[in-house]
Amino acid sequence: MIPHDDQRKEQGRISMVNSPDFLEALLYDWHNEHLLRRQRADEDFYSRILAQRRNVLVLGSGTGRITTPVARQCSGTVFGVDRSVARLRRTPRQANVVPVGADIRLLPFSDHVFDAALCPYSTFQILESHDERLAVLHEAHRVLRDNSILYVDISTSFESSTASRGEHVALTAPCAELGATVTETNIVELADDHLVLTRKFSRSGDEIAEVTERWFFARTLRLPEILRMAGFEIDTVLHGYGTSSTQHRRIFVASPVQQQH
Ligand SMILES: C[S@@+](CC[C@H](N)C(=O)[O-])C[C@H]1O[C@@H](n2cnc3c(N)ncnc32)[C@H](O)[C@@H]1O
Repeated sequence: MIPHDDQRKEQGRISMVNSPDFLEALLYDWHNEHLLRRQRADEDFYSRILAQRRNVLVLGSGTGRITTPVARQCSGTVFGVDRSVARLRRTPRQANVVPVGADIRLLPFSDHVFDAALCPYSTFQILESHDERLAVLHEAHRVLRDNSILYVDISTSFESSTASRGEHVALTAPCAELGATVTETNIVELADDHLVLTRKFSRSGDEIAEVTERWFFARTLRLPEILRMAGFEIDTVLHGYGTSSTQHRRIFVASPVQQQH
């Protein structure tokens, strides 16, 4: 499990600021802090619906944006799995949160131990192939108990981003941890089945980090089909979390079908 970076907090300064992973994780939180301010309906949504679950698994938990509020409401334990140790280290310390550095295609858990799993904030759309997506769903199925539930939360907005193709400044804002104003410039390119987003971060005109992400379009995921292939049945598909700004979200709610023990 991942240790928290207490030293960083105590010193009030960043000792690993030159590490690209560390900087990337810091900038991930900076971006969300400024641009997700009014769009945090998913945190409330998952906190509410998972409150009564005992063991909850978050697939692609990042810096704990969802893990932390869910754990605050949940009487059980929330396991947040992410392959980025730098992101996991930023997860706020909380007694019932367990950050786990691992690949969600190969989970380090025994069979049938979780009551609920969720793959939030379009994480499923970062998986780059049909086989990877199926592997994640097979693993989710393996670690979930009978009478459990899976949420796969995707967005239909990537395929409609033709308008934002090209280069534009996404954000200029102060970053307290870096003690500077940071600018994020986004370069968007479209491929047949995904969008390539390059984020460039600069401070006083100097580039400090560059991150490239590929987001696969919802329509190309074949999610109903692969959920069934992995042994799930779809209970419902929600459109957003109840606010107009989240209508582009599709939350697939699925249950494991008759598991062999
Ligand atoms: C869109 S972010 C979401 C993070 C967090 N849940 C949130 O809402 O802010 C997706 C996360 O999935 C992680 N991730 C992507 N592919 C992964 C894999 N194969 N195994 C583990 N983590 C993965 C990334 O490192 C990243 O932190």
